[in-house]
Amino acid sequence: MPDMEGFREANNFGLGQAQATDNFHVKGASNLPWGMKDRLTRIFNPKSGKAVLLAFDHGFIMGPTSGLERIDLSIVPLLEYADCLMCTRGILQSSIPAATNKPVCLRSDAGSSILTELNRNVLIDVEDAIRYNASAMAVMFAAGDEEREAITAANLVKAVDLGNRYGIPVMGVTAVGKQMARDARYFALASRMCAENGASIVKTYYCEGFERVAATCPVPIVIAGGKKVPELDALKLCYNAIQDGAAGVDMGRNVFQSEHPAAMIQAVHAVVHDGITAEQGYEMYQDLSK
Ligand code: R5P
Repeated sequence: MPDMEGFREANNFGLGQAQATDNFHVKGASNLPWGMKDRLTRIFNPKSGKAVLLAFDHGFIMGPTSGLERIDLSIVPLLEYADCLMCTRGILQSSIPAATNKPVCLRSDAGSSILTELNRNVLIDVEDAIRYNASAMAVMFAAGDEEREAITAANLVKAVDLGNRYGIPVMGVTAVGKQMARDARYFALASRMCAENGASIVKTYYCEGFERVAATCPVPIVIAGGKKVPELDALKLCYNAIQDGAAGVDMGRNVFQSEHPAAMIQAVHAVVHDGITAEQGYEMYQDLSK
């Protein structure tokens, strides 16, 4: 027991001063429990409210795609520049040094490859996500895909139920059904459905009219980079997405397939967090590539 001798009476009550309230920096997350907020804060920077996720989970459906043949050589040198790592548990365990101490958005569904049909997925065990200290669980949702919509919606809902139990936010990953147009109407529908079903983060694609997608989604959206394009174009994509309301990027190929991946991720980071233009970002990319 603490010694009562010399005990100081409480006397600093801040009377007349309202208790500070927490103006939480992540969209739609103010009412979440503390553990969820802590995990979201590990992903979204409290100063900028933004995040750069480095996506290298492609192998779970594609195998050793270009740039991801040797994670130790291509990805590990980039980790220091990422706010969060998006990958599978297999790669995390086999190839990512635990001392990296970066938040992980764990790819948490699996079950199909690009050789067959996508999205007939099952969820990994949430206990494994806890064991890997995941800051978020990423799960696909294929809106508008007649065969897979229900399966992926069930996965998403189950992941949210389990995530809520243990304080782990879920990222809904909008997988575009084959017959769907990649337009604002579709992405707004798919993103909103993810949020309505309990996702705390949505990953989707940038498109014309994206400001409507972002405005109608009550949780933060991060955009995927998509297939490799010239660096300036990829930086324009990041800039436009942020200007139109995205809370960050979840970018893979346009970073790790770049000629200078470390320079590219730093330029992306500056566009996302510091609000520099794509052209300024490209200058930065060129300087850092020398
Ligand atoms: C694809 O399998 C993954 O979900 C990727 O994380 C996602 O597509 C983002 O990567 P990229 O910027 O290469 O499109």
